[in-house]
Amino acid sequence: MKNIAVIGAGTMGNGIAHTFAQFGFRVNLIDISKENIQNGMNTISRNLDRMVAKEKISEEQKKSTLDHITTHIDIPSGVKNVDLVIEAATENLKLKLQIFKQLDSNCSEKTILATNTSSISITQIAAEVSNPGRVIGMHFMNPVPVMKLVEIIRGYNTSDEVTNSIMGLSLRLNKVPVEVNDYPGFVANRILMPMINEAIETLYNGVAGVNEIDTVMKLGMAHPMGPLQLADFIGLDVCLSILEVMYNGFKNPKYAPSPLLVNMVTAGKYGIKSGEGFYDYSESKKAEKVSRQFDK
Ligand code: CAA
Repeated sequence: MKNIAVIGAGTMGNGIAHTFAQFGFRVNLIDISKENIQNGMNTISRNLDRMVAKEKISEEQKKSTLDHITTHIDIPSGVKNVDLVIEAATENLKLKLQIFKQLDSNCSEKTILATNTSSISITQIAAEVSNPGRVIGMHFMNPVPVMKLVEIIRGYNTSDEVTNSIMGLSLRLNKVPVEVNDYPGFVANRILMPMINEAIETLYNGVAGVNEIDTVMKLGMAHPMGPLQLADFIGLDVCLSILEVMYNGFKNPKYAPSPLLVNMVTAGKYGIKSGEGFYDYSESKKAEKVSRQFDK
């Protein structure tokens, strides 16, 4: 495998494109507008600068990584002659089904079709294409260039050949692939999201404040970020949507999203991307705790 297309130049898409290009793959980065593409390329460039400054890569490697990325604003031209497509568009079922329909009619029969979805059923996405055996989940973690894990999700029909090929490919990115089956939340989010939801419930019930909850988990359990800071980092809207997928998928109240999470998302507090979540990310108060009635 040499030629990869990545659909979506947002946080996950640009991280995936960056990583493949850094390891010598030719990447077609696709998004719907020149502006989205430019923002994605600027982020890649900034993250490469950070790696140069930390002496993880050289200036030449930075240049070569950027040279390995070609940009496209339409799917048919971007997926021409690629061996693998990784879809990393917005986490929206209707949109993903539309994209996979388009991929089915624009890619060769041999192209592997992967999705970076964090919660949508791989089996359901695969049902949109004529050969569902070639559809697989390739769930990268944020920040993609840094995190070692790739959760490889087999849909009900994913073939052994495609699974083995994607496991091997992940190793070529210096990542650790872990194979799991396609059930709501897969493994990563089935375990992570109840922890985040419980941290939000703990805040909602007034047991402790934002800083206290995060400090307990950071210093007591050696987590790099506390669960509330991590929720802000992932996006509170994303956390809510993953919990809803698990709640509906298992019909089990233990996955019911905390009313506080629902309220915050309804109020437009999405975490880092909206400037405020459990912490305030506005320039003046960067990462300072937002004072809430729940804080002690
Ligand atoms: N690109 C390249 N390098 C980056 C980077 C990026 N986007 N972001 C950070 N880095 C590098 C830094 O250069 C630094 O390198 P060194 O260790 O060599 O110095 C290293 O990562 C640590 O960065 P910082 O010193 O700036 O900050 P930090 O020590 O606070 O670490 C962090 C930042 C890596 C994000 C760390 O806080 C962390 O691991 N947090 C938890 C992340 C996590 O849990 N991610 C999974 C989220 S769940 C998900 O993604 C899936 C889902 O479906 C919801």
